[in-house]
Amino acid sequence: MVLATRILEYKGISTVREATHDVLILGTGLAGLRAAVEISIRTRGAADIGIVSKVQVMRSHSVCAEGGTGAVMRPEEGDSLELHAWDTVKGSDFLADQDTVDRFVQAAPDEIRFLEHWGVPWSRREDGRIMQRPFGGHSFPRACMAADKTGFFEMQALYDTLLKYNNFKRYEECFVTSLLLDGDRFAALTVYDLPGGEFVVLRGKALLIASGGLGNLYGFTTYSQTVTGDGQAIAYRAGLALEDPEFLQFHPTGLVPSGILMTEGCRGEGGYLRNNKGERFMEKYAPKMMELAPRDIVSRSEMTEILEGRGFPGSDGMDYIYLDLTHLGAERINKRLPLIREVCMKFLGIDPITQPIPIRPVAHYSMGGIEADIDGRTKVENIWAAGEVACHSMHGANRLGCNSTAECLVWGGITGSGIAKYLELSPPLSEIPQEQSREEEGRIFDGLLKQSGTESPAPIRCELRALMDKHAGVYRSGESMREGLDKIAQLKQRFRNISIQDKSRVYNTNLVQALETENMLDLAEVLLFAGLAREESRGAHARTDFSKRDDEKFLAHSMVYYTGGAPRLQYKPVTITNWKPVERRY
Ligand code: FUM
Repeated sequence: MVLATRILEYKGISTVREATHDVLILGTGLAGLRAAVEISIRTRGAADIGIVSKVQVMRSHSVCAEGGTGAVMRPEEGDSLELHAWDTVKGSDFLADQDTVDRFVQAAPDEIRFLEHWGVPWSRREDGRIMQRPFGGHSFPRACMAADKTGFFEMQALYDTLLKYNNFKRYEECFVTSLLLDGDRFAALTVYDLPGGEFVVLRGKALLIASGGLGNLYGFTTYSQTVTGDGQAIAYRAGLALEDPEFLQFHPTGLVPSGILMTEGCRGEGGYLRNNKGERFMEKYAPKMMELAPRDIVSRSEMTEILEGRGFPGSDGMDYIYLDLTHLGAERINKRLPLIREVCMKFLGIDPITQPIPIRPVAHYSMGGIEADIDGRTKVENIWAAGEVACHSMHGANRLGCNSTAECLVWGGITGSGIAKYLELSPPLSEIPQEQSREEEGRIFDGLLKQSGTESPAPIRCELRALMDKHAGVYRSGESMREGLDKIAQLKQRFRNISIQDKSRVYNTNLVQALETENMLDLAEVLLFAGLAREESRGAHARTDFSKRDDEKFLAHSMVYYTGGAPRLQYKPVTITNWKPVERRY
Protein backbone atom coordinates (compact mmCIF):
# COMPACT_ATOMS: atom_id res chain seq x y z
CA MET A 1 0.00 0.00 0.00
CA VAL A 2 1.74 3.14 -1.20
CA LEU A 3 0.64 6.36 0.44
CA ALA A 4 1.12 8.39 -2.68
CA THR A 5 2.51 7.87 -6.14
CA ARG A 6 2.63 10.69 -8.58
CA ILE A 7 4.52 12.02 -11.52
CA LEU A 8 6.53 15.19 -11.02
CA GLU A 9 7.41 17.46 -13.86
CA TYR A 10 10.59 19.39 -13.36
CA LYS A 11 10.70 22.48 -15.53
CA GLY A 12 10.55 20.49 -18.70
CA ILE A 13 13.72 18.51 -17.98
CA SER A 14 11.95 15.17 -17.60
CA THR A 15 9.38 13.32 -15.61
CA VAL A 16 10.15 11.75 -12.26
CA ARG A 17 8.10 9.15 -10.50
CA GLU A 18 7.65 9.74 -6.80
CA ALA A 19 6.35 7.43 -4.08
CA THR A 20 5.96 7.96 -0.36
CA HIS A 21 6.06 5.46 2.52
CA ASP A 22 6.18 5.72 6.29
CA VAL A 23 9.54 4.03 6.32
CA LEU A 24 12.03 3.04 3.66
CA ILE A 25 14.32 0.07 4.17
CA LEU A 26 17.32 0.01 1.90
CA GLY A 27 18.50 -3.60 1.65
CA THR A 28 16.69 -6.91 1.84
CA GLY A 29 19.21 -9.08 3.66
CA LEU A 30 18.86 -10.42 7.18
CA ALA A 31 18.98 -7.01 8.89
CA GLY A 32 16.52 -5.35 6.52
CA LEU A 33 13.99 -8.19 6.61
CA ARG A 34 14.30 -8.60 10.37
CA ALA A 35 13.62 -4.87 10.80
CA ALA A 36 10.63 -5.05 8.43
CA VAL A 37 9.19 -7.92 10.49
CA GLU A 38 9.71 -6.01 13.75
CA ILE A 39 8.08 -2.84 12.41
CA SER A 40 5.16 -4.92 11.14
CA ILE A 41 4.70 -6.70 14.45
CA ARG A 42 4.95 -3.54 16.54
CA THR A 43 2.59 -1.51 14.37
CA ARG A 44 0.26 -4.49 13.79
CA GLY A 45 0.85 -4.10 10.11
CA ALA A 46 -0.20 -0.46 10.05
CA ALA A 47 3.16 1.03 9.04
CA ASP A 48 3.60 1.35 5.32
CA ILE A 49 7.06 0.06 4.35
CA GLY A 50 8.96 0.50 1.11
CA ILE A 51 11.71 -2.10 0.73
CA VAL A 52 14.35 -1.16 -1.81
CA SER A 53 17.04 -3.37 -3.28
CA LYS A 54 19.14 -3.56 -6.40
CA VAL A 55 18.47 -7.31 -6.44
CA GLN A 56 15.42 -9.47 -5.75
CA VAL A 57 14.73 -10.10 -2.07
CA MET A 58 16.01 -13.67 -1.89
CA ARG A 59 19.14 -12.77 -3.87
CA SER A 60 20.56 -10.63 -1.09
CA HIS A 61 24.03 -11.73 -0.06
CA SER A 62 22.77 -12.90 3.37
CA VAL A 63 21.57 -16.10 1.70
CA CYS A 64 25.26 -17.02 1.33
CA ALA A 65 25.86 -17.14 5.09
CA GLU A 66 26.87 -20.69 5.83
CA GLY A 67 28.22 -21.71 9.22
CA GLY A 68 25.86 -20.42 11.88
CA THR A 69 24.48 -17.72 14.16
CA GLY A 70 26.13 -17.16 17.52
CA ALA A 71 24.13 -17.05 20.75
CA VAL A 72 24.28 -18.41 24.27
CA MET A 73 21.66 -21.16 24.31
CA ARG A 74 22.95 -23.50 26.99
CA PRO A 75 23.97 -21.75 30.19
CA GLU A 76 23.28 -24.98 32.08
CA GLU A 77 26.05 -26.68 30.08
CA GLY A 78 28.64 -24.04 30.93
CA ASP A 79 28.13 -21.16 28.50
CA SER A 80 27.28 -17.66 29.72
CA LEU A 81 26.49 -14.20 28.39
CA GLU A 82 29.58 -12.89 30.12
CA LEU A 83 31.75 -15.44 28.36
CA HIS A 84 30.24 -14.58 24.97
CA ALA A 85 30.87 -10.89 25.68
CA TRP A 86 34.45 -11.52 26.78
CA ASP A 87 35.21 -13.66 23.70
CA THR A 88 33.79 -10.91 21.47
CA VAL A 89 35.74 -8.11 23.17
CA LYS A 90 39.01 -10.07 23.20
CA GLY A 91 38.40 -11.14 19.60
CA SER A 92 37.88 -7.48 18.64
CA ASP A 93 41.41 -6.72 19.83
CA PHE A 94 39.71 -4.49 22.42
CA LEU A 95 38.31 -2.01 19.90
CA ALA A 96 34.69 -3.09 20.43
CA ASP A 97 32.46 -0.81 22.50
CA GLN A 98 31.73 -3.01 25.47
CA ASP A 99 28.25 -1.68 26.24
CA THR A 100 27.25 -2.55 22.68
CA VAL A 101 28.68 -6.05 23.04
CA ASP A 102 26.70 -6.57 26.26
CA ARG A 103 23.48 -5.56 24.54
CA PHE A 104 24.27 -7.90 21.66
CA VAL A 105 24.92 -11.02 23.72
CA GLN A 106 21.79 -10.42 25.78
CA ALA A 107 19.55 -10.07 22.72
CA ALA A 108 20.99 -12.86 20.54
CA PRO A 109 19.38 -15.90 22.24
CA ASP A 110 15.88 -14.47 21.74
CA GLU A 111 16.60 -13.99 18.05
CA ILE A 112 17.35 -17.71 17.73
CA ARG A 113 14.07 -18.51 19.48
CA PHE A 114 12.14 -16.11 17.22
CA LEU A 115 13.61 -17.80 14.17
CA GLU A 116 12.67 -21.15 15.65
CA HIS A 117 9.05 -19.98 15.82
CA TRP A 118 9.23 -18.48 12.35
CA GLY A 119 10.31 -21.77 10.84
CA VAL A 120 14.10 -22.11 10.53
CA PRO A 121 14.87 -25.85 10.24
CA TRP A 122 17.78 -25.84 12.70
CA SER A 123 20.08 -28.84 12.76
CA ARG A 124 19.31 -30.81 15.91
CA ARG A 125 21.19 -32.75 18.54
CA GLU A 126 20.10 -36.25 19.54
CA ASP A 127 18.12 -34.72 22.42
CA GLY A 128 16.22 -32.50 19.98
CA ARG A 129 17.84 -29.22 20.99
CA ILE A 130 19.32 -26.82 18.44
CA MET A 131 22.76 -27.96 17.37
CA GLN A 132 25.60 -25.50 18.00
CA ARG A 133 29.04 -26.00 16.51
CA PRO A 134 32.34 -24.52 17.68
CA PHE A 135 33.53 -21.37 15.87
CA GLY A 136 36.80 -19.43 15.97
CA GLY A 137 37.56 -17.40 19.10
CA HIS A 138 34.50 -18.67 20.98
CA SER A 139 35.17 -20.58 24.19
CA PHE A 140 31.93 -22.57 23.82
CA PRO A 141 30.11 -24.06 20.81
CA ARG A 142 27.73 -21.20 19.97
CA ALA A 143 27.02 -21.30 16.25
CA CYS A 144 23.35 -22.33 15.88
CA MET A 145 23.27 -24.01 12.50
CA ALA A 146 21.05 -25.23 9.71
CA ALA A 147 23.67 -27.55 8.19
CA ASP A 148 25.93 -25.18 6.20
CA LYS A 149 23.08 -23.14 4.67
CA THR A 150 22.11 -21.11 7.73
CA GLY A 151 21.71 -17.74 6.00
CA PHE A 152 19.47 -19.14 3.31
CA PHE A 153 17.07 -20.69 5.81
CA GLU A 154 17.04 -17.59 8.01
CA MET A 155 16.24 -15.36 5.05
CA GLN A 156 13.49 -17.70 3.92
CA ALA A 157 11.89 -17.76 7.38
CA LEU A 158 12.00 -13.96 7.70
CA TYR A 159 10.56 -13.36 4.25
CA ASP A 160 7.79 -15.90 4.82
CA THR A 161 6.97 -14.17 8.10
CA LEU A 162 6.89 -10.76 6.46
CA LEU A 163 4.49 -12.06 3.82
CA LYS A 164 1.87 -12.46 6.53
CA TYR A 165 1.62 -8.66 6.55
CA ASN A 166 0.20 -6.80 3.63
CA ASN A 167 2.02 -3.60 4.45
CA PHE A 168 5.05 -3.42 2.22
CA LYS A 169 5.99 -2.70 -1.34
CA ARG A 170 9.12 -4.14 -2.90
CA TYR A 171 11.25 -1.97 -5.11
CA GLU A 172 13.43 -4.70 -6.56
CA GLU A 173 16.18 -4.14 -9.11
CA CYS A 174 16.14 -0.51 -8.05
CA PHE A 175 19.55 1.06 -7.64
CA VAL A 176 19.74 3.90 -5.12
CA THR A 177 21.97 6.67 -6.44
CA SER A 178 21.83 9.16 -3.57
CA LEU A 179 20.36 10.03 -0.23
CA LEU A 180 18.78 13.47 0.01
CA LEU A 181 18.52 15.48 3.19
CA ASP A 182 16.19 18.34 3.94
CA GLY A 183 18.39 20.37 6.26
CA ASP A 184 19.40 17.87 8.90
CA ARG A 185 16.60 15.35 8.23
CA PHE A 186 16.29 12.50 5.78
CA ALA A 187 14.01 13.44 2.90
CA ALA A 188 14.30 10.95 0.05
CA LEU A 189 16.25 8.36 -1.88
CA THR A 190 16.87 8.87 -5.57
CA VAL A 191 16.55 5.61 -7.41
CA TYR A 192 17.26 4.22 -10.85
CA ASP A 193 14.48 1.70 -11.49
CA LEU A 194 16.13 -0.72 -13.93
CA PRO A 195 13.11 -2.57 -15.34
CA GLY A 196 11.16 0.66 -15.83
CA GLY A 197 14.17 2.68 -16.98
CA GLU A 198 12.92 5.50 -14.78
CA PHE A 199 14.32 7.86 -12.21
CA VAL A 200 12.27 7.53 -9.03
CA VAL A 201 12.21 9.60 -5.87
CA LEU A 202 11.24 7.61 -2.77
CA ARG A 203 10.20 9.59 0.27
CA GLY A 204 9.88 8.35 3.83
CA LYS A 205 9.46 9.64 7.35
CA ALA A 206 12.29 7.33 8.36
CA LEU A 207 15.04 5.43 6.60
CA LEU A 208 16.84 2.25 7.61
CA ILE A 209 20.04 1.56 5.71
CA ALA A 210 20.68 -2.19 5.76
CA SER A 211 22.41 -2.69 2.44
CA GLY A 212 25.27 -4.97 3.51
CA GLY A 213 29.02 -4.92 2.99
CA LEU A 214 31.53 -3.75 0.42
CA GLY A 215 33.71 -6.80 -0.22
CA ASN A 216 33.89 -6.44 -3.98
CA LEU A 217 36.48 -3.77 -3.40
CA TYR A 218 38.70 -6.84 -3.48
CA GLY A 219 39.33 -9.27 -6.33
CA PHE A 220 39.63 -12.32 -4.11
CA THR A 221 36.49 -12.24 -2.04
CA THR A 222 33.70 -14.41 -0.63
CA TYR A 223 31.07 -11.83 -1.59
CA SER A 224 28.49 -11.97 -4.34
CA GLN A 225 29.32 -9.67 -7.23
CA THR A 226 26.54 -7.35 -6.11
CA VAL A 227 28.19 -6.37 -2.81
CA THR A 228 29.72 -3.01 -3.70
CA GLY A 229 29.14 -0.83 -0.65
CA ASP A 230 26.50 1.39 -2.24
CA GLY A 231 24.77 2.15 1.07
CA GLN A 232 28.03 3.22 2.72
CA ALA A 233 28.95 5.37 -0.27
CA ILE A 234 25.68 7.32 -0.49
CA ALA A 235 25.62 7.86 3.28
CA TYR A 236 29.24 9.04 3.23
CA ARG A 237 28.58 11.51 0.44
CA ALA A 238 25.49 12.76 2.31
CA GLY A 239 27.71 13.66 5.27
CA LEU A 240 27.52 10.64 7.61
CA ALA A 241 30.82 9.37 9.01
CA LEU A 242 32.29 6.01 8.07
CA GLU A 243 33.72 4.45 11.20
CA ASP A 244 36.71 2.07 11.37
CA PRO A 245 36.79 1.39 7.62
CA GLU A 246 40.39 0.09 7.68
CA PHE A 247 39.27 -3.08 9.47
CA LEU A 248 38.41 -5.41 6.61
CA GLN A 249 38.25 -9.01 7.69
CA PHE A 250 40.02 -11.78 5.80
CA HIS A 251 38.36 -15.13 6.34
CA PRO A 252 41.00 -17.84 6.63
CA THR A 253 39.42 -20.28 4.18
CA GLY A 254 38.56 -18.94 0.74
CA LEU A 255 38.50 -21.60 -1.96
CA VAL A 256 41.33 -21.08 -4.47
CA PRO A 257 40.95 -19.71 -7.10
CA SER A 258 37.26 -18.62 -6.90
CA GLY A 259 37.20 -17.22 -3.34
CA ILE A 260 34.01 -19.10 -2.45
CA LEU A 261 33.60 -19.37 1.31
CA MET A 262 34.66 -22.64 2.88
CA THR A 263 32.78 -22.13 6.12
CA GLU A 264 34.57 -21.89 9.44
CA GLY A 265 32.15 -24.70 10.26
CA CYS A 266 34.68 -26.95 8.46
CA ARG A 267 37.14 -26.25 11.26
CA GLY A 268 34.31 -26.21 13.80
CA GLU A 269 33.56 -29.78 12.76
CA GLY A 270 37.23 -30.64 13.34
CA GLY A 271 38.99 -29.75 10.04
CA TYR A 272 42.74 -29.07 10.05
CA LEU A 273 44.93 -26.51 8.30
CA ARG A 274 48.14 -27.93 6.85
CA ASN A 275 51.17 -26.42 5.13
CA ASN A 276 53.25 -28.03 2.38
CA LYS A 277 55.09 -30.13 4.97
CA GLY A 278 51.82 -31.61 6.16
CA GLU A 279 52.16 -29.73 9.48
CA ARG A 280 49.22 -28.34 11.44
CA PHE A 281 51.04 -25.03 11.61
CA MET A 282 48.54 -23.29 13.91
CA GLU A 283 50.32 -25.05 16.74
CA LYS A 284 53.05 -22.39 16.42
CA TYR A 285 50.71 -19.41 16.43
CA ALA A 286 47.77 -20.36 18.66
CA PRO A 287 48.65 -23.56 20.53
CA LYS A 288 45.47 -23.60 22.61
CA MET A 289 42.80 -22.83 20.05
CA MET A 290 44.71 -24.02 16.97
CA GLU A 291 42.51 -23.78 13.84
CA LEU A 292 39.75 -22.20 15.93
CA ALA A 293 41.68 -19.09 16.90
CA PRO A 294 40.03 -15.82 15.76
CA ARG A 295 40.15 -15.03 12.06
CA ASP A 296 42.72 -12.23 12.21
CA ILE A 297 45.20 -14.58 13.86
CA VAL A 298 44.53 -17.56 11.57
CA SER A 299 44.72 -15.41 8.42
CA ARG A 300 47.98 -13.78 9.50
CA SER A 301 49.39 -17.24 10.30
CA GLU A 302 48.41 -18.63 6.90
CA MET A 303 50.00 -15.67 5.12
CA THR A 304 53.19 -16.09 7.16
CA GLU A 305 53.35 -19.75 6.11
CA ILE A 306 52.79 -18.81 2.48
CA LEU A 307 55.27 -15.90 2.51
CA GLU A 308 57.93 -18.08 4.15
CA GLY A 309 57.58 -20.71 1.43
CA ARG A 310 55.48 -23.31 3.21
CA GLY A 311 52.44 -22.93 0.95
CA PHE A 312 51.63 -24.69 -2.30
CA PRO A 313 52.32 -22.85 -5.56
CA GLY A 314 49.16 -21.52 -7.20
CA SER A 315 48.66 -19.70 -10.48
CA ASP A 316 48.70 -15.86 -10.59
CA GLY A 317 50.49 -15.67 -7.24
CA MET A 318 47.59 -17.42 -5.50
CA ASP A 319 49.70 -19.70 -3.35
CA TYR A 320 47.60 -21.69 -0.97
CA ILE A 321 47.54 -24.09 1.92
CA TYR A 322 45.26 -27.01 2.67
CA LEU A 323 42.02 -27.29 4.60
CA ASP A 324 41.96 -30.97 5.43
CA LEU A 325 38.62 -32.66 6.25
CA THR A 326 39.63 -36.16 5.20
CA HIS A 327 39.68 -37.48 8.77
CA LEU A 328 36.09 -36.39 9.45
CA GLY A 329 34.45 -39.19 7.51
CA ALA A 330 31.75 -39.23 4.85
CA GLU A 331 28.79 -39.23 7.22
CA ARG A 332 29.79 -36.08 9.09
CA ILE A 333 30.68 -34.21 5.91
CA ASN A 334 27.47 -35.22 4.12
CA LYS A 335 25.31 -34.28 7.08
CA ARG A 336 26.95 -31.14 8.40
CA LEU A 337 28.83 -29.75 5.39
CA PRO A 338 26.85 -30.78 2.30
CA LEU A 339 27.26 -27.41 0.56
CA ILE A 340 31.03 -27.46 1.04
CA ARG A 341 31.27 -30.88 -0.55
CA GLU A 342 29.02 -29.87 -3.45
CA VAL A 343 31.00 -26.68 -4.14
CA CYS A 344 34.37 -28.48 -4.05
CA MET A 345 33.12 -31.12 -6.45
CA LYS A 346 31.46 -28.67 -8.84
CA PHE A 347 34.14 -25.99 -8.88
CA LEU A 348 37.36 -28.01 -8.49
CA GLY A 349 36.40 -31.60 -9.15
CA ILE A 350 37.73 -32.67 -5.75
CA ASP A 351 35.90 -34.56 -3.04
CA PRO A 352 36.74 -33.29 0.47
CA ILE A 353 35.88 -36.71 1.90
CA THR A 354 39.14 -37.97 0.41
CA GLN A 355 41.06 -34.88 -0.76
CA PRO A 356 42.30 -31.70 0.96
CA ILE A 357 40.86 -28.33 -0.14
CA PRO A 358 43.14 -25.53 -1.44
CA ILE A 359 42.42 -22.31 0.46
CA ARG A 360 43.92 -18.93 1.42
CA PRO A 361 42.72 -15.81 3.29
CA VAL A 362 39.91 -14.04 1.45
CA ALA A 363 38.15 -10.66 1.87
CA HIS A 364 35.01 -11.49 3.83
CA TYR A 365 33.56 -8.80 6.08
CA SER A 366 33.76 -5.14 6.91
CA MET A 367 33.99 -4.40 10.63
CA GLY A 368 33.57 -0.70 9.85
CA GLY A 369 30.58 1.07 8.36
CA ILE A 370 28.19 3.95 8.81
CA GLU A 371 28.55 5.33 12.32
CA ALA A 372 25.53 4.21 14.35
CA ASP A 373 24.92 4.24 18.09
CA ILE A 374 23.87 1.35 20.31
CA ASP A 375 20.26 1.78 19.09
CA GLY A 376 21.34 1.81 15.46
CA ARG A 377 20.65 5.54 15.13
CA THR A 378 22.90 7.61 12.93
CA LYS A 379 23.67 11.28 13.44
CA VAL A 380 20.67 12.15 11.24
CA GLU A 381 17.53 12.03 13.40
CA ASN A 382 15.42 9.88 11.08
CA ILE A 383 18.09 7.55 9.64
CA TRP A 384 19.00 4.21 11.22
CA ALA A 385 21.60 1.67 10.08
CA ALA A 386 21.78 -2.06 10.80
CA GLY A 387 23.79 -5.09 9.73
CA GLU A 388 27.13 -5.03 7.97
CA VAL A 389 26.60 -1.58 6.46
CA ALA A 390 26.61 -0.13 9.98
CA CYS A 391 29.33 0.22 12.56
CA HIS A 392 27.77 -0.09 16.00
CA SER A 393 31.34 -0.70 17.16
CA MET A 394 30.51 -4.20 18.27
CA HIS A 395 33.19 -6.07 16.30
CA GLY A 396 36.00 -3.58 16.83
CA ALA A 397 39.08 -4.57 14.84
CA ASN A 398 38.11 -8.19 14.26
CA ARG A 399 34.72 -9.90 14.22
CA LEU A 400 34.26 -13.41 15.57
CA GLY A 401 32.66 -15.89 13.20
CA CYS A 402 28.89 -16.39 13.62
CA ASN A 403 28.51 -12.98 15.31
CA SER A 404 27.51 -11.37 12.02
CA THR A 405 24.22 -13.03 11.20
CA ALA A 406 23.44 -12.64 14.89
CA GLU A 407 24.25 -8.93 14.70
CA CYS A 408 21.98 -8.52 11.66
CA LEU A 409 19.12 -10.11 13.56
CA VAL A 410 19.73 -8.23 16.80
CA TRP A 411 20.05 -4.79 15.19
CA GLY A 412 17.33 -5.56 12.68
CA GLY A 413 15.11 -6.07 15.74
CA ILE A 414 16.44 -3.05 17.65
CA THR A 415 16.18 -0.62 14.74
CA GLY A 416 12.80 -2.00 13.71
CA SER A 417 11.52 -1.37 17.20
CA GLY A 418 13.10 2.11 17.32
CA ILE A 419 11.55 3.07 14.01
CA ALA A 420 8.12 1.79 15.06
CA LYS A 421 8.28 3.97 18.19
CA TYR A 422 9.42 6.94 16.13
CA LEU A 423 6.45 6.52 13.79
CA GLU A 424 4.09 6.67 16.78
CA LEU A 425 5.17 10.27 17.25
CA SER A 426 3.69 11.07 13.82
CA PRO A 427 6.89 12.62 12.53
CA PRO A 428 6.59 15.03 9.63
CA LEU A 429 7.50 14.13 6.09
CA SER A 430 10.39 16.27 4.89
CA GLU A 431 10.15 18.32 1.76
CA ILE A 432 11.91 16.85 -1.26
CA PRO A 433 14.93 18.96 -2.05
CA GLN A 434 13.79 19.39 -5.63
CA GLU A 435 16.91 21.12 -6.84
CA GLN A 436 19.11 18.24 -5.61
CA SER A 437 16.81 15.62 -7.00
CA ARG A 438 16.76 17.28 -10.39
CA GLU A 439 20.54 17.61 -10.33
CA GLU A 440 20.92 13.93 -9.49
CA GLU A 441 18.73 12.87 -12.39
CA GLY A 442 20.71 15.15 -14.67
CA ARG A 443 24.02 13.84 -13.33
CA ILE A 444 23.05 10.30 -14.23
CA PHE A 445 20.97 10.47 -17.38
CA ASP A 446 22.32 13.63 -19.00
CA GLY A 447 25.86 13.39 -17.66
CA LEU A 448 27.19 9.91 -16.98
CA LEU A 449 25.01 8.10 -19.50
CA LYS A 450 25.55 10.51 -22.36
CA GLN A 451 29.19 11.43 -21.90
CA SER A 452 31.57 9.97 -24.44
CA GLY A 453 34.96 9.59 -22.80
CA THR A 454 37.71 7.22 -23.81
CA GLU A 455 37.73 5.05 -20.67
CA SER A 456 35.52 2.11 -19.85
CA PRO A 457 34.33 1.48 -16.26
CA ALA A 458 35.02 -2.28 -16.34
CA PRO A 459 38.84 -2.18 -16.47
CA ILE A 460 38.85 0.57 -13.82
CA ARG A 461 36.87 -1.69 -11.51
CA CYS A 462 39.17 -4.64 -12.28
CA GLU A 463 42.28 -2.62 -11.59
CA LEU A 464 40.80 -1.26 -8.38
CA ARG A 465 40.06 -4.74 -7.07
CA ALA A 466 43.53 -5.98 -7.96
CA LEU A 467 45.18 -3.03 -6.26
CA MET A 468 43.18 -3.58 -3.09
CA ASP A 469 44.29 -7.24 -3.03
CA LYS A 470 47.85 -6.02 -3.33
CA HIS A 471 47.94 -2.86 -1.22
CA ALA A 472 45.34 -3.53 1.49
CA GLY A 473 45.69 -7.24 2.13
CA VAL A 474 46.21 -9.26 5.31
CA TYR A 475 49.59 -7.53 5.74
CA ARG A 476 50.01 -3.91 4.71
CA SER A 477 52.62 -1.18 5.20
CA GLY A 478 52.66 2.61 4.98
CA GLU A 479 54.50 2.42 1.70
CA SER A 480 52.09 -0.06 0.11
CA MET A 481 49.02 1.88 1.28
CA ARG A 482 50.44 5.19 0.03
CA GLU A 483 51.07 3.59 -3.34
CA GLY A 484 47.52 2.19 -3.29
CA LEU A 485 46.10 5.66 -2.60
CA ASP A 486 48.07 7.13 -5.52
CA LYS A 487 46.71 4.47 -7.83
CA ILE A 488 43.15 5.13 -6.62
CA ALA A 489 43.61 8.85 -7.37
CA GLN A 490 44.65 7.92 -10.91
CA LEU A 491 41.66 5.60 -11.30
CA LYS A 492 39.34 8.35 -10.07
CA GLN A 493 40.83 10.67 -12.66
CA ARG A 494 40.25 8.07 -15.38
CA PHE A 495 36.70 7.48 -14.17
CA ARG A 496 35.86 11.10 -15.00
CA ASN A 497 36.56 10.24 -18.62
CA ILE A 498 34.39 7.13 -18.99
CA SER A 499 31.88 6.26 -21.60
CA ILE A 500 29.00 3.89 -20.95
CA GLN A 501 28.49 1.57 -23.89
CA ASP A 502 24.76 0.96 -23.52
CA LYS A 503 22.96 4.29 -23.91
CA SER A 504 19.42 3.07 -23.24
CA ARG A 505 17.52 3.70 -20.03
CA VAL A 506 15.83 0.33 -19.57
CA TYR A 507 17.71 -2.33 -17.64
CA ASN A 508 21.06 -0.68 -18.23
CA THR A 509 23.48 -2.87 -16.28
CA ASN A 510 26.44 -0.97 -17.78
CA LEU A 511 25.14 2.14 -16.06
CA VAL A 512 24.66 0.35 -12.75
CA GLN A 513 28.17 -1.07 -12.89
CA ALA A 514 29.54 2.41 -13.50
CA LEU A 515 27.63 3.77 -10.51
CA GLU A 516 28.90 0.89 -8.38
CA THR A 517 32.46 1.51 -9.52
CA GLU A 518 32.15 5.16 -8.54
CA ASN A 519 31.04 4.03 -5.06
CA MET A 520 33.86 1.51 -4.82
CA LEU A 521 36.48 4.13 -5.69
CA ASP A 522 35.32 6.35 -2.83
CA LEU A 523 35.22 3.50 -0.34
CA ALA A 524 38.63 2.12 -1.31
CA GLU A 525 40.10 5.56 -0.76
CA VAL A 526 38.46 5.80 2.66
CA LEU A 527 39.76 2.36 3.69
CA LEU A 528 43.35 3.12 2.75
CA PHE A 529 43.20 6.66 4.09
CA ALA A 530 42.20 5.46 7.57
CA GLY A 531 44.61 2.51 7.32
CA LEU A 532 47.56 4.71 6.53
CA ALA A 533 46.86 6.94 9.50
CA ARG A 534 46.54 4.02 11.93
CA GLU A 535 50.17 3.35 12.71
CA GLU A 536 49.73 0.15 14.68
CA SER A 537 48.67 -3.47 14.17
CA ARG A 538 45.28 -4.38 15.61
CA GLY A 539 42.91 -7.14 14.55
CA ALA A 540 42.49 -7.22 10.80
CA HIS A 541 44.80 -4.23 10.31
CA ALA A 542 48.24 -5.86 10.38
CA ARG A 543 51.10 -3.54 9.43
CA THR A 544 54.58 -4.77 8.74
CA ASP A 545 56.01 -1.35 9.67
CA PHE A 546 54.07 -1.02 12.96
CA SER A 547 53.72 -4.58 14.10
CA LYS A 548 52.43 -3.94 17.65
CA ARG A 549 49.11 -2.72 19.01
CA ASP A 550 49.45 0.81 20.34
CA ASP A 551 46.77 1.49 22.95
CA GLU A 552 48.35 4.81 23.89
CA LYS A 553 47.66 6.33 20.52
CA PHE A 554 45.08 4.16 18.78
CA LEU A 555 42.61 2.75 21.27
CA ALA A 556 40.12 4.83 19.32
CA HIS A 557 37.65 4.57 16.46
CA SER A 558 38.58 6.14 13.13
CA MET A 559 35.87 8.45 11.79
CA VAL A 560 36.13 9.43 8.14
CA TYR A 561 34.11 12.26 6.59
CA TYR A 562 33.46 13.23 2.99
CA THR A 563 34.73 16.64 1.94
CA GLY A 564 34.66 16.47 -1.85
CA GLY A 565 38.47 16.46 -1.75
CA ALA A 566 40.72 14.38 0.51
CA PRO A 567 38.68 12.69 3.25
CA ARG A 568 38.75 14.17 6.76
CA LEU A 569 39.73 11.88 9.64
CA GLN A 570 39.16 12.16 13.34
CA TYR A 571 39.03 9.71 16.22
CA LYS A 572 36.47 8.90 18.89
CA PRO A 573 37.05 7.00 22.14
CA VAL A 574 36.24 3.33 22.66
CA THR A 575 33.66 2.55 25.37
CA ILE A 576 35.33 0.34 27.95
CA THR A 577 33.11 -0.92 30.75
CA ASN A 578 34.33 -4.29 32.03
CA TRP A 579 37.64 -5.23 30.46
CA LYS A 580 40.85 -3.26 30.07
CA PRO A 581 42.94 -4.24 27.04
CA VAL A 582 45.42 -7.05 27.66
CA GLU A 583 47.63 -9.13 25.41
CA ARG A 584 45.63 -11.66 23.40
CA ARG A 585 46.76 -15.28 23.71
CA TYR A 586 44.94 -18.23 22.19
O1 FUM B 1 32.61 -19.32 7.93
C1 FUM B 1 31.45 -18.97 7.93
O2 FUM B 1 30.51 -19.75 7.84
C2 FUM B 1 31.19 -17.52 8.07
C3 FUM B 1 30.51 -17.09 9.09
C4 FUM B 1 30.62 -15.69 9.49
O3 FUM B 1 31.24 -14.89 8.78
O4 FUM B 1 30.11 -15.34 10.55
